Amino acid sequence: MTDRPRPLRILGIDTSCDDTGVGIVELADGRVTVLANRVWSQAVHAQYGGVMPELASREHVERIDQIMEGALHEAGLSVTDIGAVAATSGPGLVGALLVGLMYGKGLAQALNVPFHAAHHLEGHIFAAASEAELRAPFLALVVSGGHTHLFDVPRDGEYVLVGATRDDAAGEAFDKVARLAGLGYPGGPAISEAATRGDPNAVPFKEPLKGQSGFDFSFSGLKTAALLAHRAGATAENLAASFQRAAVQTLVNTTVRAATATGRGTVVVSGGVAANRALRDAFATTGLHVVFPGRGLNTDNGAMIALAGAAAIQAGRSASALDGGATAYAPLANA
Ligand code: KG4
Ligand code: ZN
Repeated sequence: MTDRPRPLRILGIDTSCDDTGVGIVELADGRVTVLANRVWSQAVHAQYGGVMPELASREHVERIDQIMEGALHEAGLSVTDIGAVAATSGPGLVGALLVGLMYGKGLAQALNVPFHAAHHLEGHIFAAASEAELRAPFLALVVSGGHTHLFDVPRDGEYVLVGATRDDAAGEAFDKVARLAGLGYPGGPAISEAATRGDPNAVPFKEPLKGQSGFDFSFSGLKTAALLAHRAGATAENLAASFQRAAVQTLVNTTVRAATATGRGTVVVSGGVAANRALRDAFATTGLHVVFPGRGLNTDNGAMIALAGAAAIQAGRSASALDGGATAYAPLANA
């Protein structure tokens, strides 16, 4: 009788911004399963109307032990069951990143297991590995509060940037339009909810960058048009429905054109905005094989970093040195 290889449990940590995330995945027989995903979303920043980096770092320090304990409990594991550790090293707020990165390195060293430094955007992309095996080639659209990037992934681990926002990130635009319509924060879920009661054709938004030959995005024009419509008396519900329709349309149309141009049949759509129901429904009608992250894995979390770590291990990438630092600016594209 041959011994089956023992399942490898990978613990992932993300402290890149204002969420303290710890997740655990299991890699067994070439398949990954999410065992736990715990996120502490910092509320302290709300009173300032934006993330205060120093407060974020401090709160990560105060919460990370408790979040890790919660993740181990959820997975039914003890810390010695962990066989590898992954943590985000960039991009993000350097002070915030350092908390999770140092914690992850310390844990890996104490347990004497491999450590993998992970890229935050690779984490967002591999969040979708919870739903389907992700093997190149595919396109990856990352739409979050800080990023709107469209990558071609011709080979596993190779990222070619084919388009990006020229101004605001998609999630940032949802947040700003929600704020002006008085719908609260975070704006994405608030817009999505209000949109169910509004008319998507009430405000005639123009498609941004219409006629471009490339695959870039722009949201500042939609934001200005939303402000003008708000001043002209558009209701919050109509504004939400019309803005959401326009934002979804530009994201889907541009991605479909890029898929045609590159010949890719599979598209991964991830990041906070990928939670949007209208966006998911619109992608479902494109005829492409579209993969979204599972529940709770769209916005920042630790399980997506564990999934990126699992992908690195499966691809045979060697472990990271323990003396690598955190980087605020770290492009994923290597071409
Ligand atoms: O991925 P994430 O947690 O943070 C970054 O790495 O930036 O994404 C947060 C963003 C916020 O802008 C939020 O408004 C947006 O994702 N978001 C949504 C939805 N849920 C979250 N946008 C549209 N529709 C949603 N349902
Ligand atoms: Zn993110």
